[in-house]
Amino acid sequence: MSQTDFSPWSFYETRCAGLANGLEIFRNNWTTDLSPLGVKPFGKAQLLTDSRFDWFLARYGSLLNKNVLELGSLEGAHSILLERNGARNVLGLEANSIHYLKSLVIKEYLGLRHITFMLGDFIQYLHQTRDYYDLTFACGVLYHMTNPAELLQLAAERSDALFLWTVLYDSDALPEHMKPRLSGPVELQAGDLTYQGFRHVYAREAALELNKKVKFTGGMEQYSIWLELQELLRILKHWGYKKIIRPDNVTHNNRHGSNICLLCFK
Ligand SMILES: C[S@@+](CC[C@H](N)C(=O)[O-])C[C@H]1O[C@@H](n2cnc3c(N)ncnc32)[C@H](O)[C@@H]1O
Repeated sequence: MSQTDFSPWSFYETRCAGLANGLEIFRNNWTTDLSPLGVKPFGKAQLLTDSRFDWFLARYGSLLNKNVLELGSLEGAHSILLERNGARNVLGLEANSIHYLKSLVIKEYLGLRHITFMLGDFIQYLHQTRDYYDLTFACGVLYHMTNPAELLQLAAERSDALFLWTVLYDSDALPEHMKPRLSGPVELQAGDLTYQGFRHVYAREAALELNKKVKFTGGMEQYSIWLELQELLRILKHWGYKKIIRPDNVTHNNRHGSNICLLCFK
């Protein structure tokens, strides 16, 4: 389909009906490398064979019959892995409508019946839901929040365990290109907790180019708050996480600086 062809037939698929055709609707917009599903790569991110998920699974143990909440489910890759590893129910929440639609297509392609994807803001959802989960799976979302301690408080109120992968503020490891986009520290409040974070502003090109807008995987606001490791650990303890698996597990890259995988139990 040509992007400038707006005739009523431009949206028709003329090939024989098939499940894989749906994946191609978004052929230029996938972030996830779909090759593990036996279809073209489309995107580059290897989320269906993600080592962060392997790290989590090796430490969490069996997901059999677990009720899992995934925050920021993007195109559904981690929700798929959660279901494939035995979760009874997975609820994936995603605010970006294009990512959400891709999740529905991939779910239909794989015939998954234990996942529900819902479109919208997970912070508001966590405030209003009375549901309780065995696990909150929060990969790549904490550093996109304007009040990260609020998210950690809500997750602690609504689930037994929390998996986190997040970028950290680490002044020693911050790459040069990120330095102009971070400032602080600033003081913030969540419930009865006062804490410190660093203000991060998104790159301007994300807001200017259509292709980058469509593929944008950041937060809902023009800025977010990043936490230092010690502050993150203090906040987790404040909200009642007594067992935190691998607080020393910091790794570095040239994109954001430092990041960490943590598995937390109350
Ligand atoms: C960096 S991506 C991480 C995606 C995926 N969890 C992963 O680890 O690959 C962050 C995702 O969270 C979504 N997101 C950010 N803030 C959100 C919010 N308040 N409610 C729902 N989704 C949100 C974004 O649209 C994006 O898909």
